[in-house]
Amino acid sequence: MTFPEKIWKGDAFASRGIFVLGESWYGDYSDELVTDDGYIRAYLAGRVVDALYTRIANACQLSRQDFWHGVMFTNFVQRVGATRDFRPTRGHYDAARVRLAQLLNEHQPRGVWILGVGQGEYSAPVVERAGIPVEVTAHPTSYGVKNSTLHASWNALLDKARTYRAPAQNFERSAADFPLMNNFEIYTPTAEEVHSGELGRRMRQFNYRFVGEYGQAQPVWVSAKDQGGALVGGLRGFVFLQWLNVELLFVDDAARHQGVGRRLLAMAEQKARELGARNATLNTFEWQARAFYLKQGYEEFGRIDDYIQGFYMAYMKKALEP
Ligand SMILES: CC(C)(COP(=O)(O)OP(=O)(O)OC[C@H]1O[C@@H](n2cnc3c(N)ncnc32)[C@H](O)[C@@H]1OP(=O)(O)O)[C@@H](O)C(=O)NCCC(=O)NCCS
Repeated sequence: MTFPEKIWKGDAFASRGIFVLGESWYGDYSDELVTDDGYIRAYLAGRVVDALYTRIANACQLSRQDFWHGVMFTNFVQRVGATRDFRPTRGHYDAARVRLAQLLNEHQPRGVWILGVGQGEYSAPVVERAGIPVEVTAHPTSYGVKNSTLHASWNALLDKARTYRAPAQNFERSAADFPLMNNFEIYTPTAEEVHSGELGRRMRQFNYRFVGEYGQAQPVWVSAKDQGGALVGGLRGFVFLQWLNVELLFVDDAARHQGVGRRLLAMAEQKARELGARNATLNTFEWQARAFYLKQGYEEFGRIDDYIQGFYMAYMKKALEP
């Protein structure tokens, strides 16, 4: 059984900015009373008597109207509509946690007050991850909870909320910034979709915003042949965004240590300069040619140890002088 969601947001929420999380349920009610908004509206209008909600306001030393209009409020498990007969399960709490993260994003509270240690266990980490100040207090209906305890917790939260600054990138975000919400599907694209190049085009447009328009990758291909015309080695790479990327360099066993590799690389670097490259980069396995590249002026700037079967992968670069 689920109920429509309409959380309570008081008229003066913007000034106090506190989001209160309860842990009761509305499954025992009907009509307007099944939502947070409907229930609290009825309560503030005197159509419903709720000693607990009055006690919370009193403990905070505020009038009912002042307290409730300064906060937004939802009962943590409201959306699953648990009743006294169907107490919330772990699954209910998990589902509510996802919704809580969305609500924090949508409403940007400056503090979250959690009533109830039980649900605090589930929801406090969500609030902490969002970087928003949080206070958890024993539920007001718990045995022996004093008004002074509630008051101290409320005040501690107000203190934290006063100095809290929302991270700039989240500021003023609203539901309209998340038009997809959960309505999307992850799937394996067809070959046709992949070859259309659509994703690459969009990626480029995005990059242009930062570095301006740039050209496509330019191939850099160099080969070596012997006097009989047989291939003895070669290099394959490309220049992209002023970097030469060496993808492959290979010289036949029989032709090694005669300067072929060095000349292939030097020629590739020269071609790359002509295409506007200012740097070169490549990666090489431990059993390949790190020492060779060091001799050609490359430096290692990173390494992944044990990349495969105990061998590292080294990442190298070199500035291409004009
Ligand atoms: C790495 C490779 C391309 C070098 O080609 P090459 O024609 O033998 O190299 P060169 O003869 O031009 O050697 C240039 C210098 O590097 C040294 N060198 C060559 N290969 C080396 C290696 N694997 N490790 C250390 N030094 C090496 C040479 O001794 C020479 O030194 P010097 O200038 O002091 O005389 C070749 O050995 C090869 O194809 N290896 C297998 C494939 C491979 O590892 N490719 C690189 C993938 S990233």
